[in-house]
Amino acid sequence: MKQKRSEFATKLGVIATTVGSAVGLGNIWRFPYEAGEGGGGAFLVIYLLVITLIGVPVICAEFVLGRSSRRNIFGAFRHFSPNGKWHYVGYVGILASIMILSFYSVVAGWTMEYIYQSVTGGLDFNSADGFHSQFGDFCGSNWRPVLWTVLFLLCNLLILRRGVQKGVEKMSNIMMPILFVLLIVFCVNSLTMDRASEGLSFLFNPDFSKVTPGVVIGAMGQAFFSLSIGLGTMMTYASYFSRKTDLRRSASVTAILDTLVAILAAVIIFPAVFSFGQSPAQGPALVFEILPAIFSQLPGAAIWSTLFFILLFLASLTSTISMSEVSIAFLTDEKKMSREKATWLNTMIAMFFGVFCALSFGCLSDYTIFGMTIFDIFDYVTSNILLPFGGLLISIYVGWFLDKRIFRHELANGNSSLFTSLMRFSLRYIAPTAIFVIFLSQIGVL
Ligand code: TRP
Repeated sequence: MKQKRSEFATKLGVIATTVGSAVGLGNIWRFPYEAGEGGGGAFLVIYLLVITLIGVPVICAEFVLGRSSRRNIFGAFRHFSPNGKWHYVGYVGILASIMILSFYSVVAGWTMEYIYQSVTGGLDFNSADGFHSQFGDFCGSNWRPVLWTVLFLLCNLLILRRGVQKGVEKMSNIMMPILFVLLIVFCVNSLTMDRASEGLSFLFNPDFSKVTPGVVIGAMGQAFFSLSIGLGTMMTYASYFSRKTDLRRSASVTAILDTLVAILAAVIIFPAVFSFGQSPAQGPALVFEILPAIFSQLPGAAIWSTLFFILLFLASLTSTISMSEVSIAFLTDEKKMSREKATWLNTMIAMFFGVFCALSFGCLSDYTIFGMTIFDIFDYVTSNILLPFGGLLISIYVGWFLDKRIFRHELANGNSSLFTSLMRFSLRYIAPTAIFVIFLSQIGVL
């Protein structure tokens, strides 16, 4: 029996859902802190190079595999190479998606705490410097971050149970444009701060003497994370695209909007970091300490803060939905599990690991391996290793093993366009080589 696969309803829906997957905490929370630790400008330059040379081609590759096979990451590889071992890439994807969901939900939980504190007056906007200790107290309480992580995963579950179309598409259509407008307002505000120029020069004046293999792999990991590529998310979403969707356009628009949001976030954060006399390299807490301080300077601080954290929470949800869809599509398509069961299983596993990630900022903060807490390890291993590794295999597969005609046909409706040739060239040569070389330099071989 062949079931018709559900499809996204509208053109806007396609863009809004892929952008909804891409835009999330990766742009607003992770990008500023990674850029801050990676030295600012040089990190940004490398990041942009990775997005263009590796990121966009890999999105195209995932789109092509997903839409032409109409299957999840496993099924897609099995569809094209029934006798090969390529579908093992699917295991990497599923492992990565569950690990990301676990630590991502912790940070999404922080946004819920900040909504709560903004509404109830717990965030004191009259004193601009209490936010550091407030964040510390919150994490130190242990039970609160855990509670929010669990609650966030339950929200994720509620939407997932309703299926792809209804839940995600509607929410993304409304939320993404509002978030965008709000970011522009905050950007303008940050640009008027006293020491804004220092922040801008940190971000836009690259100092290449600060580049180490660690910075390069960090920028690559951030690019994969932010574009939601390397584990089959875009592949799974593309399997719901209609035949009419122009994949070239969707891939480019997604990459452009995603990058724009990350840069807007950085332009909001860094002028403020320097104006408040703080260090840009504060790690994961950066945005949660700086943003409230920015809001405290605005009239109606609590309202801005509430609105912003609600949108950030929703942006996180559209991202976690997309990564959960990878394992749910696998369990329902390949293992014939019911959607209900698959959704619960995905949620329960993420909750289990999520608790440990949440406690990494509290009572488990002393448990470290190579100087990294459990949270840091989940974050580092997925972004910097598993996603680029998945991306490496996907680009090699599409560049070298997938029939050229299928690639052309899907990406450009059979036309031979320059864009298609460039993408294929990158997938064959540039992307795999670059990822490989970056890996080698990180382990000290180069
Ligand atoms: N890209 C999202 C963000 O920036 C996170 C995300 C969603 C993701 N799906 C993913 C990251 C798949 C890696 C892989 O917040």
